[in-house]
Amino acid sequence: MRLTIEQLRLTEELDQLGSISEAPPPVVTRVVFTDADVRGREFVKSLCRETGLAIRDDPAGNTFARWEGSDPALAPVGTGSHIDAIPNAGRFDGTVGVLGGLEAIRALERAGFRPKRSIELVVFTSEEPTRFGIGCLGSRLLSGLLDPSAGESLTDRDGITLNEARVSAGFAGSLATVALPRGYYSAFAELHIEQGPLLEQRQVPLGVVTAIAAPASLKIQIEGEGGHAGAVLMPGRRDAFLAAAEIALAVESAALSTGSIDTVGTVGVCDVFPGAVNSIPSRVRVEVDVRDIDQTRRDHVLNQIAEACDKAAAKRHVKVHSEMVNADPPAQCAPMVVDALVQACETHKIRFERMISRAYHDSLFMSRISPTAMLFVPSRGGVSHRPDEYSSPDAIAQGVLVLAEALARLSS
Ligand code: HGY
Ligand code: MN
Ligand code: MN
Repeated sequence: MRLTIEQLRLTEELDQLGSISEAPPPVVTRVVFTDADVRGREFVKSLCRETGLAIRDDPAGNTFARWEGSDPALAPVGTGSHIDAIPNAGRFDGTVGVLGGLEAIRALERAGFRPKRSIELVVFTSEEPTRFGIGCLGSRLLSGLLDPSAGESLTDRDGITLNEARVSAGFAGSLATVALPRGYYSAFAELHIEQGPLLEQRQVPLGVVTAIAAPASLKIQIEGEGGHAGAVLMPGRRDAFLAAAEIALAVESAALSTGSIDTVGTVGVCDVFPGAVNSIPSRVRVEVDVRDIDQTRRDHVLNQIAEACDKAAAKRHVKVHSEMVNADPPAQCAPMVVDALVQACETHKIRFERMISRAYHDSLFMSRISPTAMLFVPSRGGVSHRPDEYSSPDAIAQGVLVLAEALARLSS
């Protein structure tokens, strides 16, 4: 089968999708169920319609674009990723797996391939935790790992519920109908940018992902006592921000204390109230992200953070309330799908390396209901979640070529 990837067209589509943003290019901000997200979804669906795929949305806003196979009774093969983007992001995170997955389908069609199993492109809703505080919202609901009622009670910072946001974006219906049965896909393969430096450093064109790190995130609320920055003397202050600062430094030292390079801890959100230079912070909200490929080490860090919260509360006479948003196990990728990706690399004589994913992805949850693996393309400088995120058209085209070959194997 002679597969060709229309690199220029794919690059233009990625650039076009990148320009659908709440911020001017090259910055991509496309938060779930905002106007930019809805326009981005429409753009992707229009390309899927042009390709003749059958499209459906579920009530959570996951979109499915299916290339009907010759035996529709067989479980389909899935591929896909997300198009939502955190604030001040780049144009390749997630979109390479959606538009690259579509180009893989088009390349197979152009090559005269006809799948026995249908091939279904999935655009997962809300992979980023930006708006509702939990990552992979769509794939958690699809895999049954998030209870629909818990999903419905999620709210954003403006108090808008997930239900209100999704209905306003045109996705009605009960979240209880979203979960897919185990085995719904006979195999699932996600193409994604590496978001790290290893492939570029090692000059390896592609990464076949064999495991996905275990993410956890916490929301910590600290209540102290506000007051005039000039009139309130230092002794006896109950400064909520200084308690938060101690907790943040404890996150860093807990991650470093495991002795493993695979343990990471980050405080990415810190809201200080009232946020005036001459007013002592009375309330601070921080969000903490902790990951490791080893769940026991990850959980050890979470315990140390809990101890640090108690210590800061006692030392600074503040109230600290910590809520675990998620603490997911790591995923081992399915050998059957890993092998299909490896054989596809070998067929096309493209060097690859087996590796773990330190970022989480929708595949982390799809692996709970179907044999799943991922394919990485190199990220320039290892940069991601920034406007200068970049993967070259050649690198992306090689990833799409291998994905197409693997989808052909898995759907035959
Ligand atoms: O945070 C992550 O790992 C993913 O990029 N949402
Ligand atoms: Mn991301
Ligand atoms: Mn992503």
